[in-house]
Amino acid sequence: MGAPETYIEAKLNERKAAGTLRTLKPDNNLIDFCSNDYLGFARSPVLKQNTEDFLKKHPAYLNGATGSRLLSGNTNFCEELEVEIAHFHNAEAGLIFNSGYDANLGLFSSLPQRGDTIITDELIHACIIDGARLSYANRYIFKHNNLTSLQEKLKNAKGNIYIAVESVYSMDGDIAPLQQIIAMAEQYNAKVVVDEAHALGVFNKGLVNGLGLQNQVFARVITFGKALGAHGAIVLGSSILREYLVNFARSFVFTTAAPLHQLATVKVAYRLLQESDNEQKQLQANISLFKSQLSGHTGLLESMSAIQSIILSGNELTSQFAQKLQQAGFDVRPILSPTVPQGTERLRICLHAFNTPEEILNLTNLLKQNIHE
Ligand SMILES: Cc1ncc(COP(=O)(O)O)c(C=O)c1O
Repeated sequence: MGAPETYIEAKLNERKAAGTLRTLKPDNNLIDFCSNDYLGFARSPVLKQNTEDFLKKHPAYLNGATGSRLLSGNTNFCEELEVEIAHFHNAEAGLIFNSGYDANLGLFSSLPQRGDTIITDELIHACIIDGARLSYANRYIFKHNNLTSLQEKLKNAKGNIYIAVESVYSMDGDIAPLQQIIAMAEQYNAKVVVDEAHALGVFNKGLVNGLGLQNQVFARVITFGKALGAHGAIVLGSSILREYLVNFARSFVFTTAAPLHQLATVKVAYRLLQESDNEQKQLQANISLFKSQLSGHTGLLESMSAIQSIILSGNELTSQFAQKLQQAGFDVRPILSPTVPQGTERLRICLHAFNTPEEILNLTNLLKQNIHE
């Protein structure tokens, strides 16, 4: 066997031995306690029907975008949608990317230059880490949600300084102290970028809008693949930032644009979001019910969001626990190291508007029995 095959096999064997091998799972009919479909939009017949109706009114639409936005792939529809979404979020401008991964990669790889500094929370999403790695800027990591640690990094930061945080953290589900971070950033003339992937829809327009901070953040990344039930993302910020990204963000420039049916779904989903009071209230009620059932149980991280994590520690224990829940009909996934740091392996439970109180109580009962085992 040639050298690459030897390497591949050795690396996979390493993962197998450590119990950390990632595998793709087939479809299942379990009760969804793991997806990002917080408001049920991905499965919404209304979203589906309205998108189909919209597309029927535009029968000449192309199946594929045919090229990148800078070549044949741009449409008035996409640019109008960007204006509409930016307006909805009280931002000056927006630029749509094909995914949240692409948006963060493009933003963080293109904007900070050699001599600049990117400061990220230690729990920041992989796509921001990857973007920062592709830039030539210095990179500092501060302790999770820890302002003292952030300040230490700010004191040593040089050049243009960018602080990257998530309003709701994807693995712990907790919330960044946005007001304090912004106030501290102002002292050090740093710019704050907020990823709102898990806040949109869970906290209406996201926490930046919710807290009235839209004029104090440098940029926001909003993803469409979670509560909106669609796919893609937008970077919100100034018009000049948009123009910069059109020119320099390689994950925007060198990729085929999203097709119209994807964009149409996003447009319709934004309309649905504005009519989703009931779903948003139901989601909040479900989060409260889940938390009330498990309050006082060790391992449950403090979180007000739809993401509720129970730390178990150890890949084997966590996988076994998840399997038990799956056998009982609940789709709960184990989050193992190296996705999360060793010792913080967990069950990551995502709550949705469509989960019934009975489903939640059945799940929490099972969790309680097993946590005590
Ligand atoms: C915080 C955060 N940002 C960005 C992304 C990437 O978004 P997308 O799935 O649209 O690529 C994710 C998704 O996992 C995420 O959790």
